[in-house]
Amino acid sequence: MDSLAGTKVWADYNAAQATRPVRSLCLDAMALAGPGGGRQAIDLGCGAGKETLALLRDGWRVHAVDSLPDTRDRLLAIVPADADGRLSIDVRTFQELRALPPADLIFAGYSLPFIHPDHFGTFWTVMLGALGPGGVVAVNLFGDRDTWADVPEWNFHTEDAARRLFDGLQILKFEVYDDDGQSFRGPKHWHIYDIVARRP
Ligand SMILES: C[S@@+](CC[C@H](N)C(=O)[O-])C[C@H]1O[C@@H](n2cnc3c(N)ncnc32)[C@H](O)[C@@H]1O
Repeated sequence: MDSLAGTKVWADYNAAQATRPVRSLCLDAMALAGPGGGRQAIDLGCGAGKETLALLRDGWRVHAVDSLPDTRDRLLAIVPADADGRLSIDVRTFQELRALPPADLIFAGYSLPFIHPDHFGTFWTVMLGALGPGGVVAVNLFGDRDTWADVPEWNFHTEDAARRLFDGLQILKFEVYDDDGQSFRGPKHWHIYDIVARRP
């Protein structure tokens, strides 16, 4: 997907998210990490901001990252005034990220598969480098049986390879969804890993 087409696709996608509940994977991570209490969380590919808002409401400071140009305006429009001082926003592609704030919770909902495979390893090192001792990371990754697995700009992993990404961390949840369904681009086969891990 070229960048302009990608921007339009993600803008449409995020506009359709208003009524959905907070992602259960994010709620899992929040339950495992405990109340924020002013600790730092990161929402990678924050999109419509639903998980950013849930984290702020749970007392986290949130660093929200997304490449969509209107991300700042979108988030500031939904964030309560009293949470504003706990929100930092980085409008940037994952592949441009060279640093993230040290964090106790990192969430990436349906966003990391859209990193070019050439940049995924560097990004992954930066991301896990930000996760402090005891910190929880929760991500969706795409598997190699996904319909989109032939898209060269996106990354896909066998289950073994996905598990190896968490070497040195304790995997607390590794759920595989491998079924036909719908996407914003029409019917497809989904092969998705929902993964939660903790740094010892
Ligand atoms: C499928 S949406 C998911 C949004 C939200 N996390 C959710 O769970 O609904 C993917 C989001 O990641 C962002 N995104 C996709 N590729 C990205 C990249 N390479 N760098 C930064 N953000 C990216 C898009 O702009 C979009 O907001």
